[in-house]
Amino acid sequence: MKTGIPYHQLEDESRGQEYNRRTQVYYRGLIALATGASVLLVIMALCNLLIPRPSSSSSSSHPVPDISLRLPNMESCTDPCRIVLVESIPEGLEFNSSTTHPSIFQSWMNLMNEARSSVDIASFYWTLTNKDTHTHEPTANQGEAVLNRLAELSGNLSVRIAVNTPQEKQPRHDLRLLNDSGAHIRTVNMKELTTGVLHTKFWVVDKQHIYIGSANMDWRSLTQVKELGVVVYNCSCLAADLSKIFEAYWFLGESKSIPSPWPERFSTMYNKDTPLQLPLNNTPSNVYLSSSPPSLCAAGRTSDLQSILSVVEDAESFVYIAVMNYLPTMEFSHPKRYWADIDTQLRRVAYEKRIKVRLLISCWNSTQPVMFSFLKSLASVYDPKNNLDIQVRLFVVPATPKQKEIPFARVNHNKYMVTDKIAYIGTSNWSGDYFVNTAGSALVVNQTASQSVESTVQSQLKAVFERDWNSDYSTPLTQHSNLKDFCYV
Ligand SMILES: *[C@@H]1O[C@H](CO)[C@@H](O)[C@H](O)[C@H]1NC(C)=O
Ligand SMILES: *[C@@H]1O[C@H](CO)[C@@H](O)[C@H](O)[C@H]1NC(C)=O
Ligand SMILES: *[C@@H]1O[C@H](CO)[C@@H](O)[C@H](O)[C@H]1NC(C)=O
Ligand SMILES: *[C@@H]1O[C@H](CO)[C@@H](O)[C@H](O)[C@H]1NC(C)=O
Ligand SMILES: *[C@@H]1O[C@H](CO)[C@@H](O)[C@H](O)[C@H]1NC(C)=O
Ligand SMILES: *[C@@H]1O[C@H](CO)[C@@H](O)[C@H](O)[C@H]1NC(C)=O
Repeated sequence: MKTGIPYHQLEDESRGQEYNRRTQVYYRGLIALATGASVLLVIMALCNLLIPRPSSSSSSSHPVPDISLRLPNMESCTDPCRIVLVESIPEGLEFNSSTTHPSIFQSWMNLMNEARSSVDIASFYWTLTNKDTHTHEPTANQGEAVLNRLAELSGNLSVRIAVNTPQEKQPRHDLRLLNDSGAHIRTVNMKELTTGVLHTKFWVVDKQHIYIGSANMDWRSLTQVKELGVVVYNCSCLAADLSKIFEAYWFLGESKSIPSPWPERFSTMYNKDTPLQLPLNNTPSNVYLSSSPPSLCAAGRTSDLQSILSVVEDAESFVYIAVMNYLPTMEFSHPKRYWADIDTQLRRVAYEKRIKVRLLISCWNSTQPVMFSFLKSLASVYDPKNNLDIQVRLFVVPATPKQKEIPFARVNHNKYMVTDKIAYIGTSNWSGDYFVNTAGSALVVNQTASQSVESTVQSQLKAVFERDWNSDYSTPLTQHSNLKDFCYV
């Protein structure tokens, strides 16, 4: 994310973003004029050489345009944006740490309380009550409260839900209830569109407040699964940009194919090269939203993969990554495919730039064993004498016998990265599918220019990572680690 717009980017047609397009046209005009004028001057000079003339040169009547003309107006945002990290800490998990954040449950309730005109939600699937498990789990109460409140709102204001087309077996109770309450629901058939799924999880409220993070619309995501997200209040500029991603899903809910190119109204001016400048908690910040897969990125949008690669590249001392799944392969495609874009980048910066790389990965009953082979390979890039420092730890959410009965729970589902400069909060696992055919998105926050005393998102996220990394719930992965001992318990 650069604040200025280097000249070469203005020439890069492939970016084609609204902003750049405007400035490109502007600059191209200047360049054409300038080039035209200088060609003219050269020709005239040559002519002057060849055909000597009276020195009443016409060059003064064809002035070279002043390149230092006004720069295009960098639109910056003056909203009093307030950003809050939010977490779900599974029942029973205790950290010996002062690092705590408001709960995702509370933040969703707050967002609904703030809502005056609209709530737009992008989602993977909905199971906010424990009807799905046929249990009477008291910790489902938060999910049920969210669902009831949303149903209430659906009668009073515009509630739109974009959801991945549910499979046969998937429960539809929540969606039916919301539909009957007046919500507008569109199913997005990502399987047909890209062979992936809509995996994104975010909210846009009143085109002013947003939530984005790892939590699914699942009661377990509030009380039984460890999640991390971020809420930004009072931030219409950022909300408007996230709305463009929502509108793309909304559009796809009624479309049999993906537009290429996407119509102008989906394009953005904000990306890794020309981020949105805004105050976050009074701290000057550069932010942008990335999206995947590339076919869902309208002009100007940085793809999620490009944003990850560039954030890693930009690091100067460390890259901390907390994701549920990490694989340098496609996970769900056949035939098998190796996919090492991120893996290569991590090894590269560890080697070329002596960056400290830490990966905090989840393990639980459903983890594929092959993940550990690749993680061990990555963790073998460790040789302090030669300044090679990649380390991997596995985070296990312990479960009581009763908690073990809850299917698909008790796991660390976080999807973020923090470097010495940047906070990246996403919705995707880190394997090929999530960048090639599955829809996801991320918020990237850059506050490096800040001199503010208020703590930055980066420092807060780093503290979360360090809390988890150093906790009793994480175990270093070594070449001898036997996963049966601590993952499959
Ligand atoms: C963060 O912002 C600084 C300037 O404020 C810029 O130099 C740097 O490239 C940005 N980093 C990323 C990863 O965008
Ligand atoms: C937390 O850690 C501190 C310092 O390591 C220790 O003194 C304290 O007893 C710990 N508290 C708990 C509840 O484990
Ligand atoms: C509208 O909101 C009020 C107050 O939140 C709630 O009591 C009522 O049920 C809602 N109306 C509808 C039609 O859902
Ligand atoms: C949604 O509600 C409408 C009535 O408002 C009904 O016609 C439609 O069948 C419902 N759709 C689903 C999927 O329940
Ligand atoms: C948004 O800003 C207004 C005006 O500063 C303030 O009253 C309100 O509490 C803010 N909303 C949130 C959710 O922070
Ligand atoms: C994992 O699987 C084992 C064997 O099937 C079972 O005994 C254990 O309870 C499971 N653990 C969890 C957390 O589901």
